[in-house]
Amino acid sequence: MPSLDEARRKVEELRSEIRKHDYHYYVLDNPLITDQEYDSLMRELESLEREFPELITPDSPTQRVGGAPLEQFRSVRHTTPLFSLANAFDEGELRDFDRRVRQLSGTKVDYVVEPKIDGLTVVLTYENGEFVLGATRGDGITGEDITENLRAVRLLPKRLKGAPPRLVVRGEAFMPKKAFALLNEERDAKGEQPFANPRNAAAGSLRQLDPRVTAGRTLGVYVYQILEGIDREISSQWEALSLLREFGFSVQEQSSYCRDIEEVVDCCNQWIEKRHTLNYDIDGLVVKVNPLHLYDILGYTAKSPRWAIAFKFPAEQAVTRVKDIFVRVGRTGVLTPTAILEPVQVGGVTVSRATLHNEEMIRQKDVRIGDYVVVQRAGDVIPEVVRVLPERRTGEEKVFKMPDYCPVCGSEVLHLEGEVAARCTGVACPAQLKELVIHFVSREAMDVEGMGPALVEQLVDKKLISDPADIYSLSREELAELERMGEKSADNIVRAVERSKERGLAHLLYALGIRHVGIKAAETLANKFGSLDALARASFEELTGIPEIGPKIARSIEIFFQQEQTSRLIAKLKRAGVKMEQERNEEKGELVLAGKVFVLTGTLPNLSRKEAEELIKKHGGKVSSSVSKKTDYVVAGSDPGQKYDKAKQLGIPIISEDELLQMV
Ligand code: IVH
Repeated sequence: MPSLDEARRKVEELRSEIRKHDYHYYVLDNPLITDQEYDSLMRELESLEREFPELITPDSPTQRVGGAPLEQFRSVRHTTPLFSLANAFDEGELRDFDRRVRQLSGTKVDYVVEPKIDGLTVVLTYENGEFVLGATRGDGITGEDITENLRAVRLLPKRLKGAPPRLVVRGEAFMPKKAFALLNEERDAKGEQPFANPRNAAAGSLRQLDPRVTAGRTLGVYVYQILEGIDREISSQWEALSLLREFGFSVQEQSSYCRDIEEVVDCCNQWIEKRHTLNYDIDGLVVKVNPLHLYDILGYTAKSPRWAIAFKFPAEQAVTRVKDIFVRVGRTGVLTPTAILEPVQVGGVTVSRATLHNEEMIRQKDVRIGDYVVVQRAGDVIPEVVRVLPERRTGEEKVFKMPDYCPVCGSEVLHLEGEVAARCTGVACPAQLKELVIHFVSREAMDVEGMGPALVEQLVDKKLISDPADIYSLSREELAELERMGEKSADNIVRAVERSKERGLAHLLYALGIRHVGIKAAETLANKFGSLDALARASFEELTGIPEIGPKIARSIEIFFQQEQTSRLIAKLKRAGVKMEQERNEEKGELVLAGKVFVLTGTLPNLSRKEAEELIKKHGGKVSSSVSKKTDYVVAGSDPGQKYDKAKQLGIPIISEDELLQMV
């Protein structure tokens, strides 16, 4: 165990390393390390902080995820009202703005032009350099307290360097384009309504009552204005931006200094051309008077300052015709309708397809094949249909209907209850195969160590496997010939594949990727039915009779076992020797913890939380997260939480890791 001093040094080192990578990832969009490497830095920091809790500080990257979900947001009255900006839509209006500024201030002025981030305004308060409050703009007078969610944003500095005792700044939170595209893909796959644009996605992610949801989203924050607390002489906006940077904020690098309105106009024209080059959305530019002493002289209108104006980019929409609607099958079998368009120029790019998201969206917008539609490059990446032009209909237009059978594999397409998405039910649909296999071999599932996504990709592309069961007939020679594989890794994989046959019913059930059946439900089902065959025979009523199994899971299980591909897959797995039964108490006398409910608290000396849980479950026990009268044992390690006190209060036996190991 390192000494406290050594640990402190290491912790600081890790934190600064992690912050550096945050910066490269979010601001520069140019990560220096892989996600796995990043995670391993985080894990190292977490483990040191666990050993030396006295080193935990609120600004540590580990503290980003806040505590329990909130009931509702607290309102915050802003100490400085937050104005919004007047708009200029063309060069003429920019020149009018400059004329007014010069008239009122009586001098010629210089400007700063900043990209206008299309995100969510945030107001951040720091006391003695510590981040203490984060709020939305709200109506400009009162906003919502989203401090906990902002803490979960990796890039937001939680502690500043050399800041005054109290500092209030204004900035914009946003979701980078790539993160937005990925999030929507995930939402599509889960049958959830995709976000219309990155701004909504950012706002939706920050206005979450559970900060853990925010923590799972990729967000950035750029700061551009000091509202309160400058204790140094700074005379211009240009200097304010560098000062903010010095404090440790992310500040847009692409801001420009312009000596006069001519340079401003040039700059704006250049940005119209290159507006899509940033990794986040901008919807215009903000032109700000540079000398700060003029701000008082220029003052405000009822709604906006006279020292700044928003230059809005010309809209990027165009009218074209929907030639056809085509259905794409995504990785989890979700069918996404896509409009095939007569090619049209939108903002300098030829657009020939637009996403229609799902059938519901098509119905709402009433898009028909043959319609003239307005398309726009939403979120700057995926073009979308905004609305149809019904006045241009000829009567020849055709209403679109989602196919009843998957266009890729011919399996039945189903709408599950409560979902907007339609899904292909085929187990062996090639479009889904890769994801299916990646899931099948993953840790909580069959746990085939060494078989990562890159390998699965090769196996599918080379047609070495056509369903998850095929991994059991891969030979060491076939594997050794693949890219980035040697004989040794091939051997290891063959061994890991072999081992996975003994993984047990619960993991197998989870591995099969039945919709809505997570590992918890899989364990319940395995305990209840004892074999895959028994589960396959179970009726809807039998399934919903189990307290943890609702109609959604039950229906999904039913559909899964009705598929012909499922029977084929199961037969193949059986032939390969995959174990399909749960070992039961009476048969083997092994399940010593059957029916016993355990609660874990504190840090155990040898087992991780996960390992302890697996051990208990493997021996038939259940693990619950809270102590109640139904709890049989509380396993306590060092620094136990309130669960320990509760167990004492209720007189529930408290045992050590050692005692648990002896029981099994
Ligand atoms: S300055 C007094 N600078 O655009 C207003 N605003 O109405 C000071 N925005 O919601 C705003 N990027 O939050 C400024 N670089 C930037 C900005 C920016 C985005 C937002 C702002 C406001 C809207 C303008």
